[in-house]
Amino acid sequence: MDASKHPAPSITAPPDKVYSSVVHDELREEKIVLSVEDYCLWYGAKQTLYDVRMPIPAGKVTALIGPSGCGKSTLLRSINRMNDLIDSVRISGDMKLNGDSIFSPIVDVIQLRKRMGMVFQKPNPFPMSIFENVVYPLRIDGERNRAVLAEVCERSLRGAALWDEVKDRLQDSGLSLSGGQQQRLCIARAISGDPELLLLDEPCSALDPLATGKIEDLIYELRGEYSILIVTHNMQQASRVSDYTAFMYLGRLIEYGPSTRIFTNPHEKRTEDYVRGRFG
Ligand SMILES: Nc1ncnc2c1ncn2[C@@H]1O[C@H](COP(=O)(O)OP(=O)(O)OP(=O)(O)O)[C@@H](O)[C@H]1O
Ligand SMILES: [Mg+2]
Repeated sequence: MDASKHPAPSITAPPDKVYSSVVHDELREEKIVLSVEDYCLWYGAKQTLYDVRMPIPAGKVTALIGPSGCGKSTLLRSINRMNDLIDSVRISGDMKLNGDSIFSPIVDVIQLRKRMGMVFQKPNPFPMSIFENVVYPLRIDGERNRAVLAEVCERSLRGAALWDEVKDRLQDSGLSLSGGQQQRLCIARAISGDPELLLLDEPCSALDPLATGKIEDLIYELRGEYSILIVTHNMQQASRVSDYTAFMYLGRLIEYGPSTRIFTNPHEKRTEDYVRGRFG
């Protein structure tokens, strides 16, 4: 990662009053890439997120878990302002990406989205070559230098653990790859723009166990270089790949701390019931 592109996060240990007791102390020691501050969201009259306050640490993997419908995807989609596309949505509160407001009226949403990468449940390669899929974020930024594009393509495909499988067929369609390869291609595309934050919404749910294992290994390897927020339904996956885990329930953040702690000895009974499979 080009460090000069990403100035040191301007927020470090958040003051106690910003993050309530549901956030474990370990998070207060972390550098923060994204700070969610009193964030609420309504779909029409129905409130879906309630006063979510959470720091997302830089260079770590944070897993977001909770029963279906608790608001995980809604929260993730808020971060790159994809919920703007839904007319009925109303929000309050804010989020800050490396200190910059995400919801301030003066934010340029296109520029904001360039600072993040997002990968969805179903792989969605564009109907173009593998090469063009990967360099797409640079193309839309006007980059035309062939050597630069080739270098970024190789680096991103290596980063996504796909290079060896596709290096001899970069001009083939992205759609010609297997599901697991397509998802790694989408991860390559998501990291090619050197994002400050990578958002993954159940990236393995459409994949078989082998392809899932490869993506999990990859997420583990991307740690340190990238800041990753991943939604997953799979508890084993969350405990395998993440440093921190946030448990959400009915639109609220219930508990958020080191994954080892959340999965073995959480503070809250509701967290314990959920991670032990007693509901959800
Ligand atoms: N576009 C929308 N319009 C109205 N309500 C919505 C919309 N999208 C989501 N919701 C509702 O908001 C709530 C949270 O949905 P969300 O998709 O964020 O949950 P989730 O935690 O990601 O669930 P899952 O684990 O099933 O993916 C649900 O009650 C859902 O029905
Ligand atoms: Mg979801």
